[in-house]
Amino acid sequence: MGTLFEPFFAGAVTLAAAAALIAAMAAQAPQSTTGTSPAPGRTFPAPTNLKVLPMDLTGQQVNALMEQWQAALGTRCSLCHAKDREKTDAGGEPLLDFAADSKPLKGVARIMFQMTEEINTRYVSRIDGSGVPVTCGTCHGGHLSPDPFVLPDDRKPTGAQGQPAESAQPQ
Ligand code: HEC
Ligand code: HEC
Repeated sequence: MGTLFEPFFAGAVTLAAAAALIAAMAAQAPQSTTGTSPAPGRTFPAPTNLKVLPMDLTGQQVNALMEQWQAALGTRCSLCHAKDREKTDAGGEPLLDFAADSKPLKGVARIMFQMTEEINTRYVSRIDGSGVPVTCGTCHGGHLSPDPFVLPDDRKPTGAQGQPAESAQPQ
């Protein structure tokens, strides 16, 4: 787990540095997605069930990262986090049990995070001078199911019915 974002630092990366980067990235989240900003004075308990994120992230850092994931997928916390059977808010609505692993999509998100980390550490890092890591939003673009890429009309090959013309085939 110490390898998180490693290639984007010269030399050894510490978990604290990774955590700082995560916090910095979260701070750059688009303004339009901050509707979920915590109310002033809200506290974030230290996480107790991190399996893929650096274990020493603070509650606040995890929360900032989660807000990024939520925005990148155009979804809500409850997509991955199950309701707590015991705790309710002031209005009697169930709160979310963030440490619970009962929602399958939480497991998918863990795999996705590991995939994203591997893309960055193993591949993107090998491109000279690259400082642009892949994030959830690179693929998801604000949607749960990444939109398929559709070629704009004016870039379509000129063959009949959109089929690639002979001349457009690679030599
Ligand atoms: C796409 C799925 C997904 C969404 C959406 C999501 N989370 Fe998470 N969350 C996870 C995963 C996966 C973990 C566990 C990470 C790990 O294992 O290292 C986690 C962990 C957490 C934890 C740490 C729990 C603990 O004690 O270990 C908190 C707190 C949390 N999320 C809050 C939120 C909040 C608040 C939101 C909405 C703003 C949110 N999450 C949205 C997937 C998600
Ligand atoms: C390299 C591209 C890519 C990246 C990066 C990526 N994803 Fe995905 N993700 C996909 C694809 C493709 C699917 C499958 C969509 C489908 O089956 O409809 C998917 C599916 C998912 C799903 C399940 C959606 C569903 O409807 O079942 C979740 C949750 C998810 N991704 C979360 C994340 C999170 C969180 C991150 C960042 C930590 C992330 N993804 C990064 C490409 C990506």
